[in-house]
Amino acid sequence: MPEKKQKIRIGLVFGGRSGEHEVSLASATSVMANLDKEKYEVVPIGITKEGSWLLGVSPPRLLEAEQASSHQEDLEQSTAVTLTGDPSLRRLIPVRGSEQLGAEGALDVVFPVLHGTYGEDGALQGLLEMANVPYVGCGVLGSALGMDKEKMKMIFSSVGLPVVEALTYRRNEWERSPEEIIDAIEQRLGYPCFVKPVNLGSSVGVNKAHSREELAHAMRVAAEYDRKIIVERGINCRELECSVLGNDEPIASVVGEIIASNEFYDYNAKYIDGKSQVIIPAAIPQATAEQVRRWAVQAFTALDLSGLSRVDFFLEKETGQVYINEVNTIPGFTQISMYPKLWEASGLSYAQLLDRLIELAIERHEDRQRNRTNL
Ligand SMILES: Nc1ncnc2c1ncn2[C@@H]1O[C@H](COP(=O)(O)OP(=O)(O)O)[C@@H](O)[C@H]1O
Ligand SMILES: [Mg+2]
Repeated sequence: MPEKKQKIRIGLVFGGRSGEHEVSLASATSVMANLDKEKYEVVPIGITKEGSWLLGVSPPRLLEAEQASSHQEDLEQSTAVTLTGDPSLRRLIPVRGSEQLGAEGALDVVFPVLHGTYGEDGALQGLLEMANVPYVGCGVLGSALGMDKEKMKMIFSSVGLPVVEALTYRRNEWERSPEEIIDAIEQRLGYPCFVKPVNLGSSVGVNKAHSREELAHAMRVAAEYDRKIIVERGINCRELECSVLGNDEPIASVVGEIIASNEFYDYNAKYIDGKSQVIIPAAIPQATAEQVRRWAVQAFTALDLSGLSRVDFFLEKETGQVYINEVNTIPGFTQISMYPKLWEASGLSYAQLLDRLIELAIERHEDRQRNRTNL
């Protein structure tokens, strides 16, 4: 009789301490439902909004418990776990309760499905590096760069990728001289302009300003979310997105277009009103699509990304000029999200995509083990 193949143990990490907590739960629900149970043993690890790691709580259960305070005790009964930076352990350690994870408690791969701060920004990735666990997606540097809209754009510019004109301010500068800063923005960028916290996502804290009053308000809002604020010339544009997959030899999917239901693609248009449209493939000239795909791969390599990323572009309506906007290193991952939909249209099903991401995580980890650590 053929020996039964050992399943790969996947630690699916979701939730987390970010404004995109709920978005993560939606993504993780889809990932969990589509991981092949023949191949994988899935260990759900939900991170609460306060940052506690709870073992065995599925994404919908975490959401339910957080929405109804009556379900709180449900969470209190689950095993809290922690991951230590000791590479010899590579496993979750219960920090409360009596249940001990045995030797089989080690995780083979961690699949972080967390958006935003502490999940997508390199913080979790650093912990996973310390623990020597292979994990899906970008490493520490790539994740951090993918979150920082200022540094990301600096690197894009340095490899010749076109970015929209922008100015960045520190919160303390803004608080010290708001009038001067507004004058400078008016002079150099004009209206409309977009004001954003540098390290955030899902359009949280992003505002479009059409006047001096709106600009001042937008700056104050952004300064609540981050210590760095980026202001960009607002362009009248179509929004294009391209999925990239791979490690050292990344490939790009077909290009999709987002038609936002609001004046811009804000939080409401992304997740609430359900009226934004996704068009795959985007109805754009072949040459434009080819350029977007090339630039997406170039951006992926320039930021030292691995595993996956969605690369977003603006196509300026008046000029036809394409600008690169940003990368998302852990893009929305529900079955109707752009990242997996673009792969589906390129011939890779959702389940196949998950398999490939796990393979890439193991490959990257193995490649890293090749590095010499002695003198
Ligand atoms: N410079 C800009 N010109 C026109 N629209 C913009 C500009 N910057 C952002 N937007 C709009 O705001 C949305 C969110 O901005 P983005 O930089 O992608 O932040 P996030 O990381 O939160 O998605 C974009 O999808 C787009 O609709
Ligand atoms: Mg965006």
